Amino acid sequence: MTTLCATLLCAILLATVSGLPVSDFESNITTTVEIAPGVVMPRINLGTCCGSQPKVGLEPWYQAGGIGVDTALDYGVQKDIAAVLKQGLVPREKIFITTKIPAGIGIETGFCIGGADKAIQQVKRDISELGVKYVDLVLLHAPCLIASQNLAMWQGLEEALAQNLTRAIGVSNYKAENLEQLMKGSKVKPAVDQCHMGVGSHDDATIKYAQANGITYEAYDAMRNCPFDDPELLSMATAHNVSTAQVCLRWVLQKGAVMAVGTGANASHVGKYAAEDLDLYSFTLTDDEMDRLSKK
Ligand SMILES: NC(=O)c1ccc[n+]([C@@H]2O[C@H](COP(=O)([O-])OP(=O)(O)OC[C@H]3O[C@@H](n4cnc5c(N)ncnc54)[C@H](OP(=O)(O)O)[C@@H]3O)[C@@H](O)[C@H]2O)c1
Repeated sequence: MTTLCATLLCAILLATVSGLPVSDFESNITTTVEIAPGVVMPRINLGTCCGSQPKVGLEPWYQAGGIGVDTALDYGVQKDIAAVLKQGLVPREKIFITTKIPAGIGIETGFCIGGADKAIQQVKRDISELGVKYVDLVLLHAPCLIASQNLAMWQGLEEALAQNLTRAIGVSNYKAENLEQLMKGSKVKPAVDQCHMGVGSHDDATIKYAQANGITYEAYDAMRNCPFDDPELLSMATAHNVSTAQVCLRWVLQKGAVMAVGTGANASHVGKYAAEDLDLYSFTLTDDEMDRLSKK
């Protein structure tokens, strides 16, 4: 970590001294990222909601080399995931499981009250439905309107961490101001903030705030606004010999974020999607391409 920081600092200093522009984007991207001390998360994780079915998608994901899976109690698919895990295709310790406990307005009423006790109870229920002893990352699904409610639920996650029910804790759908508020009272900093992000729709202020504070930003919905038929995007895809979907996903990685991506539920193409969505490391978008995609 220290060496990496020194190298980055050196590169920035050299570029500044030499008058070369400093890039806003990451280009040397590894397949994993350390989100908390000793907790290494895959950059690309399989989504399991909103049309994507773990019953159909999880096995092809593992076969394509994927090891990260993203779920939530609210998705109602824990038992389907448990059934696939039970087959033992991949040893538990090689799989990275992210889950979310109900929190926030608009998810289910009542989940902003109940505080730490309710939060820890939900983590235990989640783990039990998944049929595992621990998960790798638990997120609060969304912020509540009242900051003290967020903090109370967060304290439940801190307790879950202390009890080794999870290896890391984080949040989802938190804007910069929610993160700032939470960190005023938290003992443990959120490891991850998972938010709606993709070409065509991104909250740059929150991305910047999270990254400046050492919080890994995770995208969901990276495909939802991807302009698949846009001529500029098509020409970038042709230039790099990849699909337009891969260009949209690679943009997320070069913005310094990780992602949960769904592969749908169509058995005839989940395998192809999985292979493509995991194959994002063999090409690099230029800064100019990144800039143009950022403006779409
Ligand atoms: N924290 C939160 O509040 C929150 C909210 C929403 C989602 N999530 C998480 O994020 C995950 C991803 O979000 P999402 O599934 O809504 O959206 P997404 O990943 O943006 O879109 C998934 C869809 O993209 C298409 N796709 C995937 N790979 C493709 C490829 N290589 N080529 C062409 N099309 C491709 C498929 O569409 P078709 O099936 O139509 O072909 C797939 O169903 C979710 O599953 C969930 O785990 C979290």
